[in-house]
Amino acid sequence: MELKAIEWLGDKLRILDQRKLPWEESFLDLADYQDVALAIKEMKVRGAPAIGIAAAYGIALGAQNIKTTNRDEFLSQLNQVTQTLAATRPTAVNLFQAIGRMEKAAIGNNVPGVKGMLINEAKQIHQEEIEATKRLSQLGAELIQDGFTILTHCNAGPLATAGYGTALGVIKAAREQGKKISVLITETRPLLQGARLTAWELMREDIPVTLITDSMAGHFMKQERIDCVIVGADRIAANSDVANKIGTYTLAVLAKDNSIPFYVAAPTSTIDLSLASGDKIPIEERDSKEVTHFQGVPIAPEGITAANPAFDITPHDYVSAIITEKGITRSF
Ligand code: MRU
Repeated sequence: MELKAIEWLGDKLRILDQRKLPWEESFLDLADYQDVALAIKEMKVRGAPAIGIAAAYGIALGAQNIKTTNRDEFLSQLNQVTQTLAATRPTAVNLFQAIGRMEKAAIGNNVPGVKGMLINEAKQIHQEEIEATKRLSQLGAELIQDGFTILTHCNAGPLATAGYGTALGVIKAAREQGKKISVLITETRPLLQGARLTAWELMREDIPVTLITDSMAGHFMKQERIDCVIVGADRIAANSDVANKIGTYTLAVLAKDNSIPFYVAAPTSTIDLSLASGDKIPIEERDSKEVTHFQGVPIAPEGITAANPAFDITPHDYVSAIITEKGITRSF
């Protein structure tokens, strides 16, 4: 069954609540932009491309609910909407790319006409991501050989893209080409996107998958049981440094030390040419409760100090290739 992580219903946005997976497949119908912003912040919808798409629809929704027909007043209220969405999560550049496109689409003096254009632009952003992720997956599949065991981290499938997937898209496309592959997935502490979401998606696709804890990756690499690592990205700087889920840098260093190719798959909407290097990418720091608790249950002594950076930067030296819908850039 086709998975719709995000669906525009004409006057509301339907999202699959990713915080409830894999235990519950429940959908949320969001009728105003503040609910969309909260869903992004609380990671009910997550993954760089999906965040951008949800924000675009959120802006379209926010615009529909503005009452005035005065253009300047409308734009000032719309600005409040975009600011709220921009303040949700700082690392995935897709969010800011989508907001920038929506702001540009709000042209014209006729407010009802602008509202219509904003809905069309959000649909267009969604459609482009569907096509880009499909294309990059097909291109990236050429890097995967028959019989490969692939390690992936976090979740970079249809849930994260509201499209075909990036890292998981490449894996799916390789399998569609008839290659026999298997996948090792890291659980991805603290929110377990690997254990909860990637496991769920790969099992639905009937792709052989083995779950490991984050700390087991080096062991499997050393034992020569991994042929390549493939991950998604939240932002790629002009020099090809990559921001992705915390733990990605560790995997990249381990991969290099074990001579295992390390691939990054992302649509071009994840590339931020305005930043010269990864040092400039803002890293989201989330609530330390995500580390000290799981599903509300404490897993550490009360009062412990915990850090919770949601992403890390992998310097480009560790990246063997970046796969986009426009082609593959190899560094080997
Ligand atoms: O914090 P998350 O779950 O939104 O982080 C997601 C990731 O790090 C993904 O790997 C990245 O967004 C690529 S999704 C195609």
